[in-house]
Amino acid sequence: MATRKKSKGKGRAKAASRKVVKLKSKAVAAKKANGNGHLPRPSSKGWGQAGKALTGVRILDFTHVQSGPTCTQLLAWLGADVIKVERPGVGDITRGQLVDVKGADSLYFTMLNHNKRSITIDSKHPQGRRVLDELIKICDVLVENFAPGALDRMGLTWEHIHKLNPRMIVASVKGFGPGPYEDCKVYENVAQCAGGSASTTGFREGPPLVTGAQIGDSGTGLHLALGIVSALFQRNRTGRGQKVLAAMQDGVLNLCRVKLRDQQRLKAGPLTEYSQYGESVPFGASVPRAGNDSGGGQPGWILKCKGWESDPDAYIYFITQAPVWGEICDLIGEPTWKTDAEYATPRARLPKLKKIFERIEQWTMTKSKFEVMELCNKVDIPVGPILSMKEIAEEPSLRKTGTVVEVDHPTRGKYLTVGNPIKLSDSISEVKRSPLLGEHTDEILKDVLKLPAKDIAEIKNSGALSAPKKEEKAA
Ligand code: COA
Repeated sequence: MATRKKSKGKGRAKAASRKVVKLKSKAVAAKKANGNGHLPRPSSKGWGQAGKALTGVRILDFTHVQSGPTCTQLLAWLGADVIKVERPGVGDITRGQLVDVKGADSLYFTMLNHNKRSITIDSKHPQGRRVLDELIKICDVLVENFAPGALDRMGLTWEHIHKLNPRMIVASVKGFGPGPYEDCKVYENVAQCAGGSASTTGFREGPPLVTGAQIGDSGTGLHLALGIVSALFQRNRTGRGQKVLAAMQDGVLNLCRVKLRDQQRLKAGPLTEYSQYGESVPFGASVPRAGNDSGGGQPGWILKCKGWESDPDAYIYFITQAPVWGEICDLIGEPTWKTDAEYATPRARLPKLKKIFERIEQWTMTKSKFEVMELCNKVDIPVGPILSMKEIAEEPSLRKTGTVVEVDHPTRGKYLTVGNPIKLSDSISEVKRSPLLGEHTDEILKDVLKLPAKDIAEIKNSGALSAPKKEEKAA
């Protein structure tokens, strides 16, 4: 009896568990239908305590100068383990460029290579290639910005890399995409000129201008970083790596998108928001340089503020946004312009923008740029003070958010840098100083590649990881 009772109980238990499984699978199906049921359960750890966004991603960083290092620095801030490969004895050329502290890595280098590890490898030495092949097998992404063909000349072709590690993503910055200029070496200003920025920057009467913002180098590095993260995401489904290319000309053009928009609008007539329209200067076949005109439909200009005679940055960008036209008129003491048909509508104002900005400037010149900012913001008028680098470096709010950070360095001491401009609430970036040349060579051979001591000694003795001796160099 007891046995029968037991088996009855067992049967009930089985039925109940089948029900639970059914209910569970229904819940999973419902979640899947919602689109994210395949994800793990939300972490119960505190914000910022659940690792970083790219924890577990290992980057073989073959970048140098600015564009590539910008990209890998961002990935490092987001949590990737970035192993920077440098030529023995020399390293990234920027270590020794624009030197301000004798014997220390330059700010050029330190400000672009935070949170990375450095290993020195002669990639053309057979033992160096051996180490690189081992690194390729265990890394997720190889990032490079050598001159076209240099990676192939090292023997690191896509075929070779993909054979060693089919999951590897190979990401490159080049000056130009495939086409007539694909073999050219390119630096920042070449890209600004070839990508449409220079021809559309500056004043109509003057020559083309390059901008201070490094849209060719850092801008392309940003594009590449997005490409890499997307390729990592796709790899989760496909299991395989792919090539990622960000050409500097393409990156600059992407940032000049509005100018290609205007190029096509020219067919429909003059660009009425450009001040040359109001000045009755005819348009040519190409988008002209627009000085400080705002790119959108809300006219703007840079105006002098109090102290402009001696302070080169005592200026403000003033936007005459249509919805606050009334507030602008009141503020500058021209209340009749609110109703005067000559000024009351955006269309009526277009031919008179020069005169309008001259009048606003009479007002801004009586105040400091910060006073103008305060008065305008009270009534929602968009303005932007022209901040000097000194003012930005000293701005407490930027220090507070970690956008401007002070870093200590063993050979150069304390310096300021720009921290991660992308803030993630669950992946908080700490800025760690840039590595010294080859600082992590031993650590990577031993702890990352787990090479036996005998092999490490053999590789080291071969000279593949150190600078050639003086006599060898001379020979
Ligand atoms: N071991 C051995 N050789 C190494 C090495 C290492 N660890 N690292 C680099 N080299 C070699 C390269 O293989 C190359 O040799 P090769 O010419 O025989 O093929 C050589 O160093 C020089 O590399 P290269 O990239 O041509 O440097 P460069 O100083 O002549 O040119 C750029 C610099 C930036 C113009 C060029 O790299 C380039 O156009 N890059 C793509 C666009 C770009 O990123 N530009 C912006 C830079 S901010």
